[in-house]
Amino acid sequence: VVMLFTQDQLAVQALVKDWCHQKLLPYSKQLEKDKALLKEFWVELSELGLCGLQFPEEYGGAGLESTSYLLAIEEIAKISASLAVTLSVHTTVGILPIITYGTAAQKESYLPPMTAGRWIGAFGLTEPSAGSDAGQGKMSARREGDGYILNGEKIFITNAHLAQVFVMTARTHPEEKGPKGLSAFVLEKDTPGFTVQSGDEKLGLQGSDWGNLVCNGVYLPETQRLGAEQEGFKIFMNSLDQGRISIAALALGIAEAALEDSIRYVKERQQFGQTLSCFQATQFKLATMATEIEAARHLTYHAARLKEAGQPFSKEASMAKLYASETAMRCANEAVQLFGGYGYTTDFKVERYFRDAKSTEIVEGTSQIQRLVIAKSLL
Ligand code: CAA
Repeated sequence: VVMLFTQDQLAVQALVKDWCHQKLLPYSKQLEKDKALLKEFWVELSELGLCGLQFPEEYGGAGLESTSYLLAIEEIAKISASLAVTLSVHTTVGILPIITYGTAAQKESYLPPMTAGRWIGAFGLTEPSAGSDAGQGKMSARREGDGYILNGEKIFITNAHLAQVFVMTARTHPEEKGPKGLSAFVLEKDTPGFTVQSGDEKLGLQGSDWGNLVCNGVYLPETQRLGAEQEGFKIFMNSLDQGRISIAALALGIAEAALEDSIRYVKERQQFGQTLSCFQATQFKLATMATEIEAARHLTYHAARLKEAGQPFSKEASMAKLYASETAMRCANEAVQLFGGYGYTTDFKVERYFRDAKSTEIVEGTSQIQRLVIAKSLL
């Protein structure tokens, strides 16, 4: 480990790494096909205490700082980005909005089962016509008595079928067309009128769950609103700032796995009478991958440390997510190239890294959105 982490942080990393290699590694490919396995591994993650690692003990968490959690995400992503994204969405954009904006009663109801991993969280922002322009969401929340009636649809929602708790935006103020018309709500899966529908087939993260959420006349009492009316967009943006550091750590894990597999392969594979590692062209690829990974690691843990210190970190979170995800994509691409024809088969893991890495350039804000956030802060 090149960066300076505390002994406690390194102990968490070692524990997770050990578990990943002993338990997860043999199933990393099968996880893509066998949906039941995700739930089994979720139970194991819960038993390891990873669902609430970075949250205060009063909410059932372990009270550790973000860095330990991110080291855990990085290790899991090296073996299964699908399992890592399941945990990442649950802990960051699932739990964090409730921790940060929930009432005492909401925290008491939701946080203990969520930090223990008994209940999984999901985050409903994206809609068919509101992706990058997230402030345009159309799901409506019409006032009725002491509550709201929700109608509309969310798509591409990670953990949709697994989750018990959904944090969602809906438009309480239709006269406001943009972000200011949105409020946030917490909704439980068995609420009448709420259904989860299958998502489309996806390129990567095939071991993870996603789906579409449909609200058809869902009644939510006012006590299910999160934060004040019209505060929904800010709540979601604040949660995404934190979630993006976690996606950066996930991308970092994929990039590292691509480099590690490449190093092993080029030391064995012989062509033109020598191993691939003897060619300077190969060495330069590895050197570039390693350098970019090191830079991504510094950006990721720098953003985490700003957050832990209570400093603004929105720009740095976007920089970390932008750079780490593009690094993951470049490293996975180089790994497939180094493996050649073998890399294009499903017998080797590098094709999975390639498919999984692409998701990190899109999920929780595309690379273009990260550049917008960074530019806005510069200007
Ligand atoms: N924290 C708190 N408040 C914020 C904020 C932040 N990071 N960013 C913006 N805001 C506030 C602004 O201050 C502003 O408030 P005021 O009007 O009171 O000043 C308000 O929100 C609107 O801000 P903008 O004018 O900047 O909003 P915008 O419409 O231009 O959008 C954006 C900005 C960065 C493009 C934003 O829409 C965005 O991040 N889009 C991408 C959405 C995204 O990441 N989607 C991924 C979905 S989740 C997912 O991936 C699936 C999953 O399962 C996890």
